Amino acid sequence: MATAATIDQGTPLHAGTAAGPCAMVLFGASGDLTKRKLIPALFNLVKASLLPKNFVILGVAFDQLSEEDFRAQVSSFLPAEDRGTEAWNWFQQRLCYQVGSFGDAGMYTSLGTRLAELEAQFHPEGNYLFYLATAPKFFAPIVEQLGAAGLSRQEKGRWRRVIIEKPFGTDLESAKALNRQIKAVLAEEQIYRIDHYLGKETVQNIMVFRFDNAIFEPIWNRRYIDHVQITNAETVGVEQRGGYFDTAGTLRDMVPNHVMQLLSLIAMESPVSFHADAVRSEQAKVLHALQPLVAEEVLQEAVRGQYGEGKLGDEQVPAYRAEPGVSPESRTETFVAMKLRIENWRWVGVPFYLRSGKRLAKRHTEITVQFKKTPFVLFRNAPVQKHSNQLVIQIQPVEGISLSFGAKIPGPILRVGSVDMSFEYSRYFGADAYTGYEVLLYDCMIGDATLFQRADMVEGGWTIVDPVLDVWKALPPTRFPNYAAGSWGPKAADELLQRDAREWRKIL
Ligand code: BG6
Repeated sequence: MATAATIDQGTPLHAGTAAGPCAMVLFGASGDLTKRKLIPALFNLVKASLLPKNFVILGVAFDQLSEEDFRAQVSSFLPAEDRGTEAWNWFQQRLCYQVGSFGDAGMYTSLGTRLAELEAQFHPEGNYLFYLATAPKFFAPIVEQLGAAGLSRQEKGRWRRVIIEKPFGTDLESAKALNRQIKAVLAEEQIYRIDHYLGKETVQNIMVFRFDNAIFEPIWNRRYIDHVQITNAETVGVEQRGGYFDTAGTLRDMVPNHVMQLLSLIAMESPVSFHADAVRSEQAKVLHALQPLVAEEVLQEAVRGQYGEGKLGDEQVPAYRAEPGVSPESRTETFVAMKLRIENWRWVGVPFYLRSGKRLAKRHTEITVQFKKTPFVLFRNAPVQKHSNQLVIQIQPVEGISLSFGAKIPGPILRVGSVDMSFEYSRYFGADAYTGYEVLLYDCMIGDATLFQRADMVEGGWTIVDPVLDVWKALPPTRFPNYAAGSWGPKAADELLQRDAREWRKIL
């Protein structure tokens, strides 16, 4: 994450200077991720003048497209008002394409030749960023082929970096195997395992909030915090991704990566510097202090759900089992809730409750830090509207932070009510139309891996998820679907907190 000395009240993207010369090789150039996120993000970087002058994109995919077809396809990924602009003109001249099969060794020889030609034309100075926006089965083969073709070799000051998308493995063993395979070719500092949650402004702001303000850190521990909740609620179902999702499920799809990123940032110790390894070592330590659930705990403290048909607003939506690409008898979970413990001095005894689900009542991602009650109740005779000290970090769709506390309700009788102090990003800094990928692409180009996952972090996330996967596999669910689309998930998720005399924060 690039830092600037002063606050830029406009867009944070304009606070940086252009990255150095490089070529970006985009494997999966006609896929969904390229269309929805990567092209819009790259184009935002063009508009913010953060791409180098010496830059070229070489898209690689199976589709038989000419370079003209590819440019036309890319332009269709952008809003109409962006086409025909000076920025588009600049961008489209740098869009090149190569048809290829990712498993074909000959393709990498042609890739090398093509990159050498592009060197003469665009002068990326031999620096290559390979982006693997492909199906996961191609991650290891592509890296192996890049190695065999000599394309990953860094020499004479030229860098070679590889961005690997998620899912990174399907369990701990496969994640370790993938790490072994790619590390046989690449040094860790060449590997950028992406998690797009780290590109979200509010997620990055957790670090600034915690470590650039002296007032929160002294109370950020088990003496003052009762528990922490992480909610990731989506209203969407599986859209066109039923085939992938039905083999993955919400636990694999969201928890070892996105949810663990949020948890590690909220719970980590202060890093000694803002260097990638200093930050990531602290995140990794928290993940290692998280206690994997044993089998009996999985039954008690992990909840799974699958949505049935229901209503989202006025729209009637189908059950998960009726979605395209999903088996009509599917036992895949679309909702997960868990209670986890972190065994270290700061957090022992403070439960972390997590929930993530599809087709829930509202799109909303947040972290709630619930503080303890006062040790002594002074206003015991005053009518008190239920209140508690809660710090809510809202990640999406609204980005902001609010703190609630008790205040005297005006009037002759002493009554206590709850009030909020809140900050919304858009009000202070203007609306943010970014995808989150801008910062990650830019950081990779400038060689800053702070917002990327290291091998031990990925493995730490899977260590927590693995025992749950095992128990759930051994004991398939019998009562799916168990929540209606448009609700807040299965009853068991509420009971998980009720057993501890707590409740999920109400999201209105
Ligand atoms: C992806 C998951 O990584 O994150 C999707 O595969 C999920 O299933 C998505 O919908 C959520 O991302 P966001 O940014 O919309 O919260």
